[in-house]
Amino acid sequence: MKILVLNGPNLNLLGRREPDIYGTATYDDLTAAVRRHAEKLGVEVEIRQSNHEGDLVDWIGEAIGTADGIVLNPAAYTHTSVALLDAVLAAGIPTVEVHLSDLTKREAFRQISFVRAACIATVMGHGIAGYTEAMDLLVKR
Ligand code: DQA
Repeated sequence: MKILVLNGPNLNLLGRREPDIYGTATYDDLTAAVRRHAEKLGVEVEIRQSNHEGDLVDWIGEAIGTADGIVLNPAAYTHTSVALLDAVLAAGIPTVEVHLSDLTKREAFRQISFVRAACIATVMGHGIAGYTEAMDLLVKR
């Protein structure tokens, strides 16, 4: 089984970015935790991050026929991107939406997620552990 982990804008700045909201763990800590968990589960994993919406759309499209599941933190594009919603719908690959922070406790504009309608589950507010929980959900499925 192969899982694709996609991260949207500014997640490369984890650790120094609003640590009171996102924690002090860095992006490298995140990728290390995901790789360790993939090894434990016995699955292949590919991890990518981009600040550009089109990159994320391209990578979801390219995952057709190569990935069995997607863990997706679209970051700010969660709240704006119909293109990402359409990409996940078009790919037809089981996708779990992940957010480090608990969006239900944040600003009104973060209560909208376009991509959620195409996802099998949403994990939020669990920090980096949310990524490994999402991987577990995909493997169980
Ligand atoms: C985020 C939440 C988004 O609202 C925000 O724009 C992000 C990160 C999260 O992981 O909590 O960049 O997706």
